[in-house]
Amino acid sequence: AAFISACNDAFRMPLLNRFFLLSADLLSTNRSSIFSGHHGQLSLTAVFLDEYRDRLFLGGKDVLYSLLLGPTSSESREIYWPPLPGNREDCIQTGKEPQTECANFVRLLQPYNRTHLLACGTGAFQPMCAFISVGHRGEHVFTMDPLNVENGRGKVPHDPSFPFASTFSGGELYTGLTADFLGRDSVIFRSMGERSTMRTETDQKLLHDPKFIAAHLIPDNDDRDNDKVYFFFTEKATEAGDREGAIHTRVGRVCANDVGGQRVLVNKWSTFIKARLVCSVAGPHGIDTHFNQLEDVFLLRTKDERNPDVYAIFSTISNVFQGFAVCVYRMADIREAFNGPFAHKEGPDYQWGAYEGRVPYPRPGVVSHCLLTTGGFGSTKDFPDSVLQFARSHPLMWRPVFPALRQPVLVKANIPYKLKQIVVDRVEAEDGQYDVMFIGTDVGTILKVIALHSGNSLETEEVTLEELQVFKCEYKLLFIMSHVLFNASKQQALYVGSPAGVAQVKLHRCEMYGKACAECCLARDPYCAWDGSSCSRYVPNSKRRFRRQDIRHGNPALQCVDQNLSGKDYLDVTEDKMVYGTENNSTFLECVPRSPQASVSWLVQRDDRKEEVKLDDRVMSTDQGLLFRRLFHQDEGIYICHSREHGFTQTLARLTLQVLPGETVDELMARDNAGLSDSFKDRSGGNYRAWMPCSSYSRGASSSQMSQSRSWFKDVIQLIGPSNLPLVEDYCERMWCNDKLRRKHKSMLEKYRQAQEGARKARSKSSGERNRTPRDLRAQEGY
Ligand SMILES: *[C@@H]1O[C@H](CO)[C@@H](O)[C@H](O)[C@H]1NC(C)=O
Ligand SMILES: *[C@@H]1O[C@H](CO)[C@@H](O)[C@H](O)[C@H]1NC(C)=O
Ligand SMILES: *[C@@H]1O[C@H](CO)[C@@H](O)[C@H](O)[C@H]1NC(C)=O
Ligand SMILES: *[C@@H]1O[C@H](CO)[C@@H](O)[C@H](O)[C@H]1NC(C)=O
Ligand SMILES: *[C@@H]1O[C@H](CO)[C@@H](O)[C@H](O)[C@H]1NC(C)=O
Repeated sequence: AAFISACNDAFRMPLLNRFFLLSADLLSTNRSSIFSGHHGQLSLTAVFLDEYRDRLFLGGKDVLYSLLLGPTSSESREIYWPPLPGNREDCIQTGKEPQTECANFVRLLQPYNRTHLLACGTGAFQPMCAFISVGHRGEHVFTMDPLNVENGRGKVPHDPSFPFASTFSGGELYTGLTADFLGRDSVIFRSMGERSTMRTETDQKLLHDPKFIAAHLIPDNDDRDNDKVYFFFTEKATEAGDREGAIHTRVGRVCANDVGGQRVLVNKWSTFIKARLVCSVAGPHGIDTHFNQLEDVFLLRTKDERNPDVYAIFSTISNVFQGFAVCVYRMADIREAFNGPFAHKEGPDYQWGAYEGRVPYPRPGVVSHCLLTTGGFGSTKDFPDSVLQFARSHPLMWRPVFPALRQPVLVKANIPYKLKQIVVDRVEAEDGQYDVMFIGTDVGTILKVIALHSGNSLETEEVTLEELQVFKCEYKLLFIMSHVLFNASKQQALYVGSPAGVAQVKLHRCEMYGKACAECCLARDPYCAWDGSSCSRYVPNSKRRFRRQDIRHGNPALQCVDQNLSGKDYLDVTEDKMVYGTENNSTFLECVPRSPQASVSWLVQRDDRKEEVKLDDRVMSTDQGLLFRRLFHQDEGIYICHSREHGFTQTLARLTLQVLPGETVDELMARDNAGLSDSFKDRSGGNYRAWMPCSSYSRGASSSQMSQSRSWFKDVIQLIGPSNLPLVEDYCERMWCNDKLRRKHKSMLEKYRQAQEGARKARSKSSGERNRTPRDLRAQEGY
C-alpha cells in the first residue's frame, strides 16, 4: 500500500472527458478495489481465475495468493515459494540480476484436478513446478509442500521476462516458450499426462524467433479426437523474402491426439501447421498499413464452443507512425486457411507460391477420429513417411486469415499510450447485441469501447464509453479478465493486474452518466438504460417495460421526448461563473464536454445579443475550452459553451469574462492601501463581503459565502500564478481581516471604484465607435 500511495492521481491529467475516472474516484464509489499483497508490492506474474470455486489465484515473485471472491468477502491466503535451496546463489553466480531474475517468478497457474492446481515458476533460472492443494468448492484451502517440486523445464521459460503461453487440457500441458537457459530453443511442447512428451523440431521453418501470446484448445466438433490446440504468436516471416526481419502474426495448431511418427518425427509434432493472421487498413495510395505485431488475444466464447470469436490487438510501431488495431477472426475463416493450399518455395531462387503438387494422404495437419478408425491408422505413428516428410517441409499455409469484414473493428493511431490487453463482453441491449471491449493500456488505464456498424456500410464508428484509470501510477497492465460470479446477483467484474497488484472493477456504473434521460441515452452504454427515473443497469427481458436506450444512434430526442428533455432542472448543468483576465495577457475559459463524442460551440452575449465567438489565431477553441492568447477589452461578455451530440444540444457553462486593465493586478500586489477595481466586484452579489477571501477566516461566514470567496480566490491565483500565492494571502489578510483597515479601505475603495468607472465609461464610448467595422455597416445596410 505504501508503494502505491507514493504517487498520486495528479500524475496524469484527465485526457478528454468526464468519463475519465481516476483511481481515487473508482475506489471511493466502490467501483473498484485493489489487492496489492500482504507486503506492499505483489510483482504479479501469473493469474488464474477459477470460476467454479469463485477464487482468484495469483502468482508473483516468490509468492502465491488465493483470493476468495464474493460480494462481501475478500479473504486472502498466501504461500511463500522461493527457489530451491542454493538455486538463488547459483543464479547470481552466473551474473543474473538478484532482484529481477534470481527469484522464483510464478509464470503458470492451471487447474490440475478437482483438488489441486499446477503452479510453475522460474525458480531462479531453474524452472520448477508444484501441486497446490486448493480444496473443494466452498472451502478455502491453500497449501503446498515447497520441497515436493518437479522439474519445470519445458513448462515455463527460465527467464521471467520471456514471452510464454500455455493451456492445460485432458491432464496434459501445452506450452509455447523458449525452453533452455539461453532462451534460444523456441518450441511448442506437450508434457505431463500418460503420453510421451511432444515437441516441435528445432527448425526456423517451424518457429523463427517466436513470441507466444496465447494458447487455447478449441474443438472441431463433438468428437474429442478432433480437438485442436491453437497457438497465437508472432515470428520472423521467412516468406516475406527481401524484407529482412519482417514480423508476421500467426495462428498455429496441433492436433491433440498427435503422438508423432515412428521412424521420422519421433516424439515430434506431425500435425503442426500455421497461417498468417492479417490485420490491415487500406491506405490512400493502395498500399495497406499492416498491423503485424500481436499484443493480445481474447477468445469470446459463445454457446457454440467450436466457434468462439477471436479478438486480437495488433500494433505497428515505426519512426513515423505508431498505430494499434483490434481485429476479429471467425474460426471458420481460420479453418478454411488450414484446409487451403500449403505455401511452397521450389528453391532458393524461386518465389513463394501455393503448393500445386499432390498432397499426400492423410493430409498433414489433420488427424480425425474418422481417419484413425476407417483409414486403418492406429495413430499418427502409422502415417506413411511421405506424410511426415511433407508435414515437416510445409508447415505454412499459403492463404492468410483475414478478419471479419476484412478490416479492423477499431484503429487508434498516434495516441500517447499503447494498447496491450483486451477482454470482450457480449451484452444484450434493447436494440441488439453489442461487444463491449475493455482495452488495457501501458499507462494503467482501461478503455471501454464499442464499435458500431452504421447500416449496411463497412464503416465502423467507435464509441469510447469510459476511460478508467485503475491504478494510481502509470503501470503497464499485465492482464485483464472478466468474470461472472456465481452468486445470486451474478455480479460481473473485471480483474485487472499490474505489477502493483490486482484490481476488481465493476463493468458499469450507470448512475454516473447523469440524472436525465437524455444524458443516459447519450452515454450509449449498452449496460445502462433510462428506467423512467434514473440511469440504471439494463436487464434484457425484464418485466419493466419502461426502458429507454438507443445504443446505435444515441438519439435522446427520440427516446426521451416525454422525459423532461427540456426540463431545466435536469439538463441545464450550467454554473454561472466569473472569470477575470488581464488586458493584453492570455486567459482561458474552461468547458469540457461530458462525452468525447460531443462537439463544442461558443456563443458570446453582449447587451442581450448572442453571437457565435469568432475564432482566429488569437481566440482558439481547444479540447478543454476557449483560449484567448491575448485579451482585449472588447472581449468582455458572457460566454456560453454548448455541446452538441446527435442533434442534442446542452449548455455546459456560462462564464462572465471581465477584462482587468493591465495595471489593476500590479496595484493589487504592490500597494497595500490600493483599492480594488470594479471588475472584481461580484455582480450577482453586489457586495464586497460575499467574496472577500477572509470571510472564510471570520466566524459566521455561511458556506455559500465561503465557496464564493474560494472561487474568487482561485480566479486570482489563476491570474497571477501560484508563485505569488504567499503575497496574495498576506495581502488579503491585511486587506480584509483587519476591521480598522477594512473601514479605511472601504472609503478608498469607493474612490478608486468611481475613478475606474469614469475611465471605463470613457473607454467604452470610444471603443463603441471604433468597433463599427465595415461588416457592421454592411449589416446595417441589409447585406
Ligand atoms: C462503499 O462500501 C462501503 C463498505 O461496504 C460503504 O460503507 C460505503 O457507503 C460504500 N460507498 C458508496 C459510495 O457506495
Ligand atoms: C490431484 O492431484 C494431486 C497431485 O498429483 C493428488 O495428490 C491428488 O490426490 C489429486 N486429487 C484428485 C481428486 O484426484
Ligand atoms: C418533469 O419535471 C417536473 C419538474 O421537475 C416533474 O414535476 C415531472 O414529474 C417530470 N415529469 C416526468 C415525466 O418525469
Ligand atoms: C502579463 O504578461 C506578462 C508577460 O507574459 C507578464 O510579465 C505579466 O506579469 C502579466 N501581467 C499580469 C497582470 O498578469
Ligand atoms: C495593450 O496593448 C496595446 C497595443 O499594444 C497598448 O496600446 C495598450 O496600452 C496595452 N494595454 C495595457 C494595459 O498594457
